[in-house]
Amino acid sequence: MRIILWGLLSAATLAAAHLPARNYSTHDYYAIHLAPSESPASLAAHLNLTYEGELGSLENHHVFKASKHDTDIVDDAVQELKRRRRKREAAPGPHPLDGIRFAQKQKIKPRHWKRSIIPERDVTRAPPPLDAAVMKQQALARELDIKDPIFGEQWHIFNTKTPGNDINVTDVWRQGITGNNVTSCIVDDGLDMDSDDLKDNFYAAGSYDFNDHVPLPKPRLSDDRHGTRCAGEVAAGRNNACGVGIAYDSKISGVRILSGDISDMDEALAINYDMQNNDIYSCSWGPPDDGKTMQQPGLLIETGMITAVQQGRAGKGNIYIFAAGNGAMYEDNCNFDGYTNSIYSITVGAISKDNQHPYYSEACSAQLVVTYSSGSGDAIHTTDVGANKCTKDHGGTSAAGPIAVGTYALVLQARPDLTWRDAQWLTVMTAVPFDAPSDWTETTIGRHFSHQFGYGKLDAWAIVEAAKTWKLVKPQAWFYSPWMHVKKAIPEGDQGLASIFEITPKMLQEANLERIEHITLTMNIEHQRRGDLSVELLSPDGMTSHLSVTRKDDNAAEGYLDWTFMSVAHWGEKGIGKWTVIVKDTVVNQKTGNFTDWKLRLWGECIDATKQKLRPMPTANDDADHDVIPDHPAHTTSIVIPTASKPTAVPTDLPDRPVNSKPSSAAPVPVPSTTIAFEPPVSATSTSSPSTSATAAPENFLPSPFPTFGVSKKTQIWIYGSLALILAFCISLAVYLYLARRKKLRSSRDDYEFEVLDDMEDDDAGARTGMLNGGAGAKKGRRAKRGGELYDAFAGESDEDLLSESEGEDGPYRDQEEREYDEKAAMAEGSDRGSSGSSSNGRKP
Ligand SMILES: *[C@@H]1O[C@H](CO)[C@@H](O)[C@H](O)[C@H]1NC(C)=O
Ligand SMILES: *[C@@H]1O[C@H](CO)[C@@H](O)[C@H](O)[C@H]1NC(C)=O
Ligand SMILES: *[C@@H]1O[C@H](CO)[C@@H](O)[C@H](O)[C@H]1NC(C)=O
Ligand SMILES: *[C@@H]1O[C@H](CO)[C@@H](O)[C@H](O)[C@H]1NC(C)=O
Ligand SMILES: *[C@@H]1O[C@H](CO)[C@@H](O)[C@H](O)[C@H]1NC(C)=O
Repeated sequence: MRIILWGLLSAATLAAAHLPARNYSTHDYYAIHLAPSESPASLAAHLNLTYEGELGSLENHHVFKASKHDTDIVDDAVQELKRRRRKREAAPGPHPLDGIRFAQKQKIKPRHWKRSIIPERDVTRAPPPLDAAVMKQQALARELDIKDPIFGEQWHIFNTKTPGNDINVTDVWRQGITGNNVTSCIVDDGLDMDSDDLKDNFYAAGSYDFNDHVPLPKPRLSDDRHGTRCAGEVAAGRNNACGVGIAYDSKISGVRILSGDISDMDEALAINYDMQNNDIYSCSWGPPDDGKTMQQPGLLIETGMITAVQQGRAGKGNIYIFAAGNGAMYEDNCNFDGYTNSIYSITVGAISKDNQHPYYSEACSAQLVVTYSSGSGDAIHTTDVGANKCTKDHGGTSAAGPIAVGTYALVLQARPDLTWRDAQWLTVMTAVPFDAPSDWTETTIGRHFSHQFGYGKLDAWAIVEAAKTWKLVKPQAWFYSPWMHVKKAIPEGDQGLASIFEITPKMLQEANLERIEHITLTMNIEHQRRGDLSVELLSPDGMTSHLSVTRKDDNAAEGYLDWTFMSVAHWGEKGIGKWTVIVKDTVVNQKTGNFTDWKLRLWGECIDATKQKLRPMPTANDDADHDVIPDHPAHTTSIVIPTASKPTAVPTDLPDRPVNSKPSSAAPVPVPSTTIAFEPPVSATSTSSPSTSATAAPENFLPSPFPTFGVSKKTQIWIYGSLALILAFCISLAVYLYLARRKKLRSSRDDYEFEVLDDMEDDDAGARTGMLNGGAGAKKGRRAKRGGELYDAFAGESDEDLLSESEGEDGPYRDQEEREYDEKAAMAEGSDRGSSGSSSNGRKP
């Protein structure tokens, strides 16, 4: 029964993917989300468009074609209808255009970057192989009948030079778990399906070339090697060619998107192609890793990913693997990339063969795990394009991602019933922290998280063993805070602007949310130099996520525009209590800005599975409720807190950073004694809220070398006082003098308490102002810009509303015209959501 259903679903997916080939130089294409009751044929007839077909598996999304035109003819028609209705020229009643929920004229996207690095070879840095390890490796090869010529070089599988520094997969293979019945899809620049190493595992029906619009993703350009190399890491066969993949009996397919011009629509089709049969999508690419780009997938692509997660793999959800990015040397961070910071993707960073941070691998609070790649003089040895060609030079986070893909293929063979969230849970619970300097911090559930290495390195044996007995998680639930209006200037320098939202048990009960997996935080900041900003989020359990970090090359004269950051550092927390967002502008210069607003979303496991629904698909208007005053017990308080700029700053990923701490020691970040409290309570066991931790004075009466005897301050005074009297007057005098000095210090610190700039009343006033002004002109322009591609033709506007608007010609009407103008201007400017952040640098040089 299930198989029949799968068959039907995949037939539908296949049929839809074979839309007629696009030719963007001769035609325009429109992706339109229609109300289910609306017929695409009648819309096509009305607008004189050619109906091409359904947009893959995206529900109620359709593709239309028109001859080339400078303007957006769908939007023009919608605006014209609105105008005529306002003037009462149009007949009232239903109109074919009323069914349009979202329409986007397709334009060529800036190219994604492949996340490979050309490694520096330096064999002199490699220690010689250990004889004992080599013998073990050879015995294993005999046992498993592995005759692949470069198997001995594949140190990421079996490391004979630094034993243990590998994916730890061989005992998984010995159990017969080698990827049977699991398919991974390499979304990339092609896949050489004729390679001796890949042809037996190649799965053609799950493959497609979205660049040349042919069924097979054959590499055609001279540098189309990346996808094939990645494919080899996952599923190179056990044979006489090159090496083996991590899941050498799994199937591999390829979807080609990186070798030519595509639009958002093409990418939306590619990102969940054949989602019933492709279990895992391997994505070793993304927006430029240049330390100045801030880009997220457009709405269609996001919808494609959510469709796969909700409906793919017969409802278990496809697993997305994204390479973290190679921009660490430009201070890039994977939270500026909307693919790696999606809750639907497992973000995989790189470590080198000696467990070091390679200079390129980006850090961020959204990074789940790391595994091996190039660095320390070596790289990944894998299959290359050609009948029997191999490479020693596959590197960057591009090469780390597919090792994880192969590992998840093994996990899925062991447990085909795992959902996409189970795969993430298993990663959190089994990744292995290791001895490399970073901000390792113990979390509420006793795991260790580092922004540089996520929860540690992937261990194939550990994750497969855990998967065998894993109890599936209940469905996903979520809680959204209201928009928190701050609307305050951000102080420059050694200070931060904090805003707090308190979550009560009742709120989570109503949201049916039991425990957190991901958190996302959407925010708006106006700033004259984006790279000066950094953002921290402090949870009620005392865990700090460095959501955003300063970037030396990011000169964008705008802050964050409805940008969503993500963190996996709060995994397993309950979420109840105070959540504090701290925005900093640590670079003291002429560039300043304001913290406008923020909204926190908690995502996690539900309480009652029977009540839980699937997340509704996102719409273009999801963040349009900024200025709705929350009728919530929530409050926003803006406070200025002095903070240590350097020591508490996020680890900036310099390979030779001073050692912070070992995984086991839940390192508190040192705060210089000259600045006061706001000590990040890093230990997850601490339940202190920011305000209490900031105001609580140390209980030690005397400085730390003196024991407190575990007694109160008063008793301490008595003990020390008596001792002093008995021993010598001069000693007591010395103590007295010390105390006097200490007290003075303390009182000067008292002046440094939270300076409360704003209280609830004030904030409400702020919110009200926002309402009255309609959100200020600048903001409106911005929103319109973001909405350039994305309008929901008549969202929230009944005919009634439209008609009443015409009553006062100068009021809302003019406002409307302005907005339309902005939208059109924006549409001409750029269509990527978040492209406002990348328009200056989005194109590949
Ligand atoms: C698009 O059409 C033009 C004109 O017919 C043709 O020259 C070009 O090769 C076509 N491009 C593609 C990708 O088919
Ligand atoms: C409809 O479009 C076709 C080409 O796409 C064009 O030849 C024709 O003139 C158009 N008809 C109208 C009524 O605009
Ligand atoms: C690797 O696998 C072995 C079993 O083969 C297991 O005992 C060990 O804990 C795993 N992890 C490490 C880090 O060795
Ligand atoms: C693969 O799946 C089929 C059908 O679900 C099943 O009969 C077969 O045993 C599986 N093979 C392996 C090796 O797990
Ligand atoms: C911050 O707000 C102030 C006061 O509203 C305004 O004058 C200033 O231009 C804003 N700064 C930015 C960068 O938008």
